[in-house]
Amino acid sequence: MTDPWQECMDHCVEIAKQAGKVIREALQDDIAVMHKSSQVDLVTETDQRVERLIISSIRAKFPTHSFIAEESVAAGAPSILTDDPTWIIDPIDGTTNFVHGFPFVSVSIGFTVKKEIEFGVVYSCIEDKMYTARKGKGAFCNGLPIKVSGQEDLSRCLVLTEVAFKKDQQQLDTMMANLRSVLTIPVHGIRSPGSAAINMCLVASGAADAYYHLGIHCWDMAGGTAVLTEAGGVIVDVSGGPFDLMSRRLIAASSAAVAERLASHIVDFHVGRDDALGSEKN
Ligand code: IPD
Ligand code: CA
Repeated sequence: MTDPWQECMDHCVEIAKQAGKVIREALQDDIAVMHKSSQVDLVTETDQRVERLIISSIRAKFPTHSFIAEESVAAGAPSILTDDPTWIIDPIDGTTNFVHGFPFVSVSIGFTVKKEIEFGVVYSCIEDKMYTARKGKGAFCNGLPIKVSGQEDLSRCLVLTEVAFKKDQQQLDTMMANLRSVLTIPVHGIRSPGSAAINMCLVASGAADAYYHLGIHCWDMAGGTAVLTEAGGVIVDVSGGPFDLMSRRLIAASSAAVAERLASHIVDFHVGRDDALGSEKN
């Protein structure tokens, strides 16, 4: 039987490549920075231009499909996941890195049907690494199969998370307390590369063993979710319960044992949902 979504995935890889080229070229110029929800929530003209490029190209080929895309949502579009074939797009994941020329910047696209991820594409465009995964068919980096480390002992893990300013003092304190709690397990180390999608692909390829985050968005996670799970990884909520793409929280891990133990060290805080009206956007 032919795969109904393979044509979409092939197109996705092509458009991610084109988007990555635009991003690399934009790095040669002065980058004008604008702000969204706060003075550390950055956006550039390139984020917006790349998102328009991706959506117009997909829409021309698949006119009935739906979209949830970061800059469109920032401009007021809804972010409600339906049963429709839906492209979930982050044109630049790692905008702060892009602004500083820090080399972890990706184009992240996930595709859902009936709210289930069918495939994901994450193009780490400065490293020129194209991560791809189709449901049930494995995960790849530049065409070569990848898999998680399989590490089961949290004290032997390299852990990724985001270390970023939080306006809310209690959230900031909890984030710092979580860092301390995880560090003093002790784990081998904590890293913060600054692109959620790349973080998930680093766990998927065994370069790191776990990643946790509260306050992320569906467009940061959709592409990486496919890559991580197809590479044999495990995704759960920070509570250890089932993962929900619209919940703005995740643990991505090399094994269920690591995910479960990490969850027991993380105290959560309210981050809202992507599909709630008026949800926090930072
Ligand atoms: C951000 C990055 C970052 C994560 C933030 C995201 P953006 O995405 O993925 O790693 O910590 O929560 O918002 O804004 O660069 O697309
Ligand atoms: Ca982005």
